[in-house]
Amino acid sequence: MYHGIGEKSWDNVPDATIQQPTDAVVRVDAVTICGTDLHILKGDVATVTPGRVLGHEAVGTVVAIGSGVQRVAVGDRVLVSAISACGVCRYCRAGSYSQCLGGGGWILGHRIDGTQAEYVRVPFADNSTHPVPDGVSDEQMILLADILPTAYEVGVLNGAVRPADVVAIVGAGPIGLAAVLAAKLLSPSHIAVIDRVDARLDIARAIGADITINSANQDPKEVIADLTHGLGADVTMEAVGIPPTFELAVALVRPGGHVANIGVHGEPVTLHLEDIWIKNLTLTTGLVDTRSTSTLIELVASGQIDTSSLITHRFALSDIEQAYRVFADAATTGALKVLLSNAPSAQ
Ligand SMILES: NC(=O)c1ccc[n+]([C@@H]2O[C@H](COP(=O)([O-])OP(=O)(O)OC[C@H]3O[C@@H](n4cnc5c(N)ncnc54)[C@H](O)[C@@H]3O)[C@@H](O)[C@H]2O)c1
Ligand SMILES: [Zn+2]
Ligand SMILES: [Zn+2]
Repeated sequence: MYHGIGEKSWDNVPDATIQQPTDAVVRVDAVTICGTDLHILKGDVATVTPGRVLGHEAVGTVVAIGSGVQRVAVGDRVLVSAISACGVCRYCRAGSYSQCLGGGGWILGHRIDGTQAEYVRVPFADNSTHPVPDGVSDEQMILLADILPTAYEVGVLNGAVRPADVVAIVGAGPIGLAAVLAAKLLSPSHIAVIDRVDARLDIARAIGADITINSANQDPKEVIADLTHGLGADVTMEAVGIPPTFELAVALVRPGGHVANIGVHGEPVTLHLEDIWIKNLTLTTGLVDTRSTSTLIELVASGQIDTSSLITHRFALSDIEQAYRVFADAATTGALKVLLSNAPSAQ
């Protein structure tokens, strides 16, 4: 539970209950922590108020449904998506679920209580969950709640990655690494990943990055210029969420290229129009819609995307405070995604 900037605790709260006919209550079997939860704790997301149960990613078992739920039944194993969707507003009808006007969007662990609990109320359950296919583990599935759709939609699709592109990804956290996996689906000629932590760059290389650049001791602009005959990358992605890395992503792109911002920013960032007005750039921003989740589930289930390197630590759900410490101190612990499992005794 979030108690204000820098303050959180693992508390006893009443179990989630059905409040609307379209709700389901899901017993959380597996849950994780997102970089965005750390942004919330830093105070970067002012819409989260004290008393909120955090978390927007889960795999679980449906234990109750409202009278209006049609496609989800008690006992179903489901992925709880980071984004809820009313399904009928103008944005939902266009697949832009993140902008839902009917009470959905990113609400879990933000505007309503989230998934870092034993039970979670999932609004619009028919549209906000996905069945877990046979043969796909909780570990594989949990990455489909947020980080894989984010990397694919906000990074790769918004960035319009095409075959043979040079793609530069700033940030090798879970999102930047998922962006490597997602970009590979489009067969770029080179993927370059920039970070300041060698351990993360090693993982980037292991999962398919062609070039890694530690920006603490190498100039990414020189490396990308050498690779592209001075032009710059076709697509750059910002996967950190701070001003210098956004400015780097803009500086690394070629004229006519795409800058896809993925990071959640908590402070104003400078867009150097005095340098780039002449470069015919496209800049995209976005909150994940999770409209690609079904596609990505298929790709994970069929082995076309291998997510096995992304979960580094496993905890019992009740050890979540320790999990937060390990996740927040990633430079020391090497943590990427942490998996929290609810003990079977909770069943
Ligand atoms: N747009 C969306 O819908 C969406 C969804 C989920 C997460 N996010 C955001 O995406 C961002 C990345 O998430 P994550 O979980 O991978 O975060 P993370 O904090 O785990 O990873 C960030 C990485 O950036 C590196 N880094 C920090 N400062 C750097 C610098 N100056 N130069 C180079 N590298 C630097 C860190 O070493 C780390 O590896 C966060 O801002 C998160 O909030 C956005
Ligand atoms: Zn998230
Ligand atoms: Zn809607």
